[in-house]
Amino acid sequence: MSRSFTAPKGTFDLIPPESATFLRVRDAFAAGPKLAGYGYVETPIFEDTALIHRGVGESTDIVTKETYTFTDRGGRSLTLRPEATASVVRAALEHGLHRGQLPVKLWYSGSFFRYERPQSGRYRHFSQVGAEALGATDASLDAELVWLAAEAYRRLGLGGCRLLLNSLGDPQCRPAYRQRLQEFLRGLDLDDDTRGRVDINPLRVLDDKRAEVRKQLHGAPLLADHLCAECQEHYDEVRALLADLGVSYVDDPRLVRGLDYYTRTTFEFVHDGLGAQSAVGGGGRYDGLSSDIGGPSLPSVGWSLGVDRTVLAMRAEGIAVDDAPRCAVFVVPLGDDAHRRMVPVLATLRTAGVSSDMVYGGRGLKGAMKAADRSGARYAVIVGERDLRGDVAQLKDLASGEQVAVPLADLVDNLQEKLT
Ligand code: HAM
Repeated sequence: MSRSFTAPKGTFDLIPPESATFLRVRDAFAAGPKLAGYGYVETPIFEDTALIHRGVGESTDIVTKETYTFTDRGGRSLTLRPEATASVVRAALEHGLHRGQLPVKLWYSGSFFRYERPQSGRYRHFSQVGAEALGATDASLDAELVWLAAEAYRRLGLGGCRLLLNSLGDPQCRPAYRQRLQEFLRGLDLDDDTRGRVDINPLRVLDDKRAEVRKQLHGAPLLADHLCAECQEHYDEVRALLADLGVSYVDDPRLVRGLDYYTRTTFEFVHDGLGAQSAVGGGGRYDGLSSDIGGPSLPSVGWSLGVDRTVLAMRAEGIAVDDAPRCAVFVVPLGDDAHRRMVPVLATLRTAGVSSDMVYGGRGLKGAMKAADRSGARYAVIVGERDLRGDVAQLKDLASGEQVAVPLADLVDNLQEKLT
């Protein structure tokens, strides 16, 4: 017996009718950047492994545990992209976009890959829509991006998203803080792994979710109390602008994101209906990323919103998307001649922008009408042998049951009129 196949672990298929909700979410996320002057960018699904390591950060979980890395037939080490920001900056530098008008505003939508332990809301293949503004330090860009994301969640009808906000400082103020934090953490009772993290990436320890670690973190020094004057001023301005824009947020001085490139503003949108994987989207400033990957200084800010978790959040709030893939017109030819005749009519309907489908599989009148009813169409166009001889079709309103004969030559106009 031949084996049967299933989607790989940690992945899932998007099928109708649920797939319509994913499209709705993607469209809602992309609408804002399009209105705010962001151009569409698409980068390869795999990148040079070194770019991902340098861009995302050697010490991150993403790089140490979660990459899908392979050697291609030419001996190059490539990695399936776990996120897009490093790729977008690479592409902007490669094509010299940063030498034109700044900021360079770009948005994207696509698949990303992380070898994580799968659970609800955490997949190995997932989908994000993102927006990045490269080459400006203006706090108003940070605020613009946060507002665009908040507005997208609002438009989707999500009431339960909370925005967490923090500043991670910059190379002026972070090193001294990092040292203070390390001193504090080294005095705690931590396991070897966590001690290792204190040496490499102490800020991540602040984000540890385990109760035995959390209870020891009371009194840990917080970066919010050690920002330099410039970072403090920038953060204050972002907050003031968000207040002007009517975006509510919660200051979360322990918010540390899982990517190493962040500086200054960082934020996360969380939804309480999702359990452990509560972040539906996040982002922040990454003023040093361009120089980290060999480019000039290009202070930038952006976000990526998770499509999969946002769909789960909509389900948790009971937000329904009318997602049946429905056509307005369903054509029912009875017999081979009628079938033959209606194929080009169907094409004309579609050219005229009337969504239309037809019964297939040579069913009789009863089966064909059942298919028409199930299709959810508003009108059925029934054509039998006698109709063909008279060059007419029977146009049936599937809601009222009312049926009239319409000359085939007038059918498209007639339907267009009825449907507008
Ligand atoms: P991130 O926080 O790693 O940021 O991912 C953004 C969003 O993608 C998360 O909030 C979550 O909704 C979704 N996501 C991440 N991993 C998974 C997964 N395994 N399964 C399902 N959904 C997931 C970034 O990726 C940065 N590039 C954001 C950014 C853009 N920062 C600046 N610009």
